[in-house]
Amino acid sequence: MDDRKTAPSPGFGLGLRPDHYPEFLAGPQAVDWLEIISENYMVPGGKPMAMLDTIRADYPMVMHGVSLSIGSDEPIDRTYLADLKALAARVEPLWISDHLCWTGINAHNSHDLLPLPYDAPALTCVVDNIARVQDYLGRRILIENPSSYVTFRSSDRSEWDFLTDMAVRSDCLLLLDVNNIYVSARNHGFDPLDYLAGLPGDRIQQIHLAGHSDMGDYVIDTHDSDVCDAVWDLYAQACSMFGPVATMIERDDDIPPLADVIAELDRARALAARVLEPVHG
Ligand SMILES: [Fe+2]
Repeated sequence: MDDRKTAPSPGFGLGLRPDHYPEFLAGPQAVDWLEIISENYMVPGGKPMAMLDTIRADYPMVMHGVSLSIGSDEPIDRTYLADLKALAARVEPLWISDHLCWTGINAHNSHDLLPLPYDAPALTCVVDNIARVQDYLGRRILIENPSSYVTFRSSDRSEWDFLTDMAVRSDCLLLLDVNNIYVSARNHGFDPLDYLAGLPGDRIQQIHLAGHSDMGDYVIDTHDSDVCDAVWDLYAQACSMFGPVATMIERDDDIPPLADVIAELDRARALAARVLEPVHG
């Protein structure tokens, strides 16, 4: 692996969703790159693969997984890894990411991104798993910070300290979900600026922006609404601290027409340009 940690930013992207296949097939869109959910394309053949191949011809892509289960205290599923590597050979993604979580046990996939305690044994487990995955794939992977709703009595450090030690020890990169930071900060009562300040900025390769459901006493990461003003403010802080980072909008439910999501992406472009111009212009 080379010494440079992050690759140059490819700009501003979107999560590719089947609702938007027709619009991407109809002509060029103002999107620099697309993120696919890896598991949606792990079954060979059929309409999803045909759509993927056609759209891939026009856009750089990154692969984002939900089933790696990097926090499981059991061996990573070799079949899953082989399928992931085969998909990467086909897509030739800019990078591959998954979440700081565990998703199942004893071959049972919960299809949920389950939280980890932030302690030394969990850190060693995650670091070892990332090392195995990176060795197998022959590249660094990105790990995304979760949104969380519970804490563990055994946790003895902050999430940002855990992520920092994880990234340095395993030599992986980070996918920073700014909405997840906001959601967890509201749910657990920490300062999101402390979180940003505690991260290794030179390892942040990508940023996610998304909407959530505000229930008053708590917040749920639902990806079914527009990015809220507080998350835009936090994104501005992230831009000023970390410089140009590949940024995308994640929308998974109540999906609007592509033009509406691109308009939201344009807000991210404009905000980043405004924040970065005095420093990097
Ligand atoms: Fe995310």
